[in-house]
Amino acid sequence: MEDTAIVTSIHLSNSPTTADTGDAILEVTGGSSLSGQVAISGAKNSALVVMAATLLTSQPCRLRNVPHLVDIDRMGEVLSALGLTLNRQDQALEIVSPTLTTTQAPYDLVSRLRASFFVIGPLLARTGMAQVPLPGGCAIGARPVELHVRGLQAMGANVHIDHGTVHAYIPGQTGRLRGTKIYLDYPSVGATETLMMAATLAQGETIIENAAQEPEVIDLANFCRAMGGRIRGAGTNTIRIVGTHELHGADYEIIPDRIEAGTFLVAAAITRSSLSLAPVVPEHLTAIVAKLQEIGGQVLLEGPNQVRYQPGSRILPATIQTGPFPGFPTDMQAQFMALLAHGDGTSLISETVFENRLRHVAELNRMGADIRLNGNSAIINGVPRLSAAPVMATDLRASAALVLAGLAAEGTTVIQGLHHLDRGYHNLEGKLQRLGAKITRHRA
Ligand code: UD1
Repeated sequence: MEDTAIVTSIHLSNSPTTADTGDAILEVTGGSSLSGQVAISGAKNSALVVMAATLLTSQPCRLRNVPHLVDIDRMGEVLSALGLTLNRQDQALEIVSPTLTTTQAPYDLVSRLRASFFVIGPLLARTGMAQVPLPGGCAIGARPVELHVRGLQAMGANVHIDHGTVHAYIPGQTGRLRGTKIYLDYPSVGATETLMMAATLAQGETIIENAAQEPEVIDLANFCRAMGGRIRGAGTNTIRIVGTHELHGADYEIIPDRIEAGTFLVAAAITRSSLSLAPVVPEHLTAIVAKLQEIGGQVLLEGPNQVRYQPGSRILPATIQTGPFPGFPTDMQAQFMALLAHGDGTSLISETVFENRLRHVAELNRMGADIRLNGNSAIINGVPRLSAAPVMATDLRASAALVLAGLAAEGTTVIQGLHHLDRGYHNLEGKLQRLGAKITRHRA
């Protein structure tokens, strides 16, 4: 193992991430039409895993377009606890890890950010050893990690779980994982990313079959390639990685956040407004755009990385089933439910990715929606008007759905539980205010 102690620090300067999350509330007064252009931030889920991937090299990395979010700060804290030095200047984040101080990720940090479990792959591949607490379930489901663990075992790691922590090490003299063929029972984003990172430093070729095809997986592959990794097929269901002895530092720009973009497209649809969004990668929005068009709106390409939503005269009903990319993203399910709740006719939304991701139904019903649950499906009878109410955000995307419902509701909706919102949206209220929304944050 290469790593011995060295003093490290984290400087997340200029990081207006957390707004005023404590006991803060959002007040949203509905009825305003929106207009203008929204600046879309860097993708949270890409930035998180790319940050973890910087563990693969001892050389400095510079990440650009990193969003200011609570989750990003938390990943920074996890990396800092492992001995990395982070320095943030606006959207750029420099990460250096010449040596690591420990291979043990602290429980109190991992339990606050599920995605920080993903450090297990690069940590193990670089040092031959990793101890990472099981992240546990979260607001939307149990979220097991056995696909990550089984894949690492297939690559030769010895893995056991003891007192809630996953202990992994590479037996033998080489200190390197072995390339192999891994079939994932489900195209898990996190497992694909963990195994892809681990494989970049393995001996020989790793083939991940039934891999996740999400844009964030491609972004991670591109970052690993920028570090000298040899990866082909990211974005398809078969990814091939030929391991190398070491990777070097890289300067890399994170892709725009397709879920933030989707949320603003729904904001335009629910307020029947015309909005322009940039930067976006239009191909990342295909499933979202298809549903918005089915619902009666139009999404026009204004430039290579810019789209505009044009409202139709009605919000038509739709049937939506969430699924792995290129299917409809589970991270947009709650926002579309808010939209369809305010539309014409009866819609059906089925959640197939997570087992407990419909808790926003009760809150939307408090705002006058007519939604019935049937297992993991929701039958939505559109109502002509939603009415403001005090509501509680139950998870990250559910909180966005409540903001969207509030934009269309009569009266002033008061939303609590903003720590969820601040995990994944940078300054949502500021961006909406600039478009003409009546939305303010207050201390409760
Ligand atoms: C990532 C995203 C999250 C998104 C999700 C699905 C990050 C940080 N988060 O989460 O925003 O909603 O993809 O697009 O990138 N599963 C298992 N065993 C495993 C791993 C996963 O059963 O070992 C199950 C999960 O419980 C879930 C499904 O697979 O039901 C999908 O999970 P996965 O794709 O792994 O999501 P995450 O990577 O956790």
